[in-house]
Amino acid sequence: MNAAVALTHEAADQAAGQAPLLEVRDFSLRRGKAVVLDGVSLALQPGETLGLIGESGAGKSTLAMALIGLLRAPEVQLEGSLRFRGSELTSLKEAEFRRLRGNKIGLIFQDATAALNPCFTVGEQIAEPLKRHLGLSKWDRRERAAALMQSVGIPEPRLRLDAYPHELSGGMQQRVMIAIALACNPELLLADEPTSALDVTIQAQIMELILDRVRDLNSSAIFVLHDLALGAQVCDRIAVMYAGQIVEEGPSERVLAAPLHPYTRGLKSCVVELGSRTLVPIPGQVPPLDAMPAGCRFAPRCPKAQAVCGERRPLPETRDGRQVACWFID
Ligand SMILES: Nc1ncnc2c1ncn2[C@@H]1O[C@H](COP(=O)(O)OP(=O)(O)OP(=O)(O)O)[C@@H](O)[C@H]1O
Ligand SMILES: [Mg+2]
Repeated sequence: MNAAVALTHEAADQAAGQAPLLEVRDFSLRRGKAVVLDGVSLALQPGETLGLIGESGAGKSTLAMALIGLLRAPEVQLEGSLRFRGSELTSLKEAEFRRLRGNKIGLIFQDATAALNPCFTVGEQIAEPLKRHLGLSKWDRRERAAALMQSVGIPEPRLRLDAYPHELSGGMQQRVMIAIALACNPELLLADEPTSALDVTIQAQIMELILDRVRDLNSSAIFVLHDLALGAQVCDRIAVMYAGQIVEEGPSERVLAAPLHPYTRGLKSCVVELGSRTLVPIPGQVPPLDAMPAGCRFAPRCPKAQAVCGERRPLPETRDGRQVACWFID
């Protein structure tokens, strides 16, 4: 390589070093006429964790699925941009996505029982990405699979390598899925409600485990969660989603301590006053996808709504170190 080319690569590396690991810009996803995600923008720096918070149906899983290429045209229509390490994801071919998925981007789903294959041993399933992405030999794969099982707190991993998923408890299955997700040291981990299918007594343990592993690997992570307080506790940043739009995004302490969007305030008061995550936080319901209001999607439920809210969509504005989409932030 000549000096000029080497220099160009160095400049590119430096530029990439400053760029966000993940940048979602004005991203929309439609299913036919239904706009499931509408103008979503967010950025994640290397090593940062983001909590994606919102009620059921907000589009959290849809965004996660689009980020790993599991929702693509022609099944859905995409607009805007999803950039990972500077590369545009929306134009990647399926074969290219397969090289990222389980390798540079790891995934943890809510329900391990559904995500694990009942026909293969857990050892084989942990070894699969090690073969596919890292090309490790059979012996090395088995050794590394055992080490990964150990690292996620599975006792006697060598004995359990040959177990089938149904032979393990729900908590152990979730640990196996975490081991699979982290097998190739991903730069980005997507964890979609990683503990909500588990017994409440082990939820905190599993969350702590994922956070420890993410910190050890210096990876970035997006945690899809329902609970604003939990999100603010475990993540650097919070993005609050409502009906396919991000209504507030910023550093966790600020969003939790002094939420600016009426919807975030509603979520917060629900946590504080009711201490429950299962109750609907604010009177009313998320509008159906085929009858979204033209303006702010939260307007029909918003205590602050005025005429303009129903007519025009508020675009995100920078306020107090965060992005807020509301006509009446003050
Ligand atoms: N396969 C599908 N076909 C049609 N609509 C779908 C499909 N999957 C999701 N949707 C719709 O897309 C919207 C967003 O759903 P999504 O699953 O992303 O929400 P979510 O925020 O993850 O909710 P939850 O907290 O319940 O997991 C919802 O209105 C949902 O009904
Ligand atoms: Mg979901």
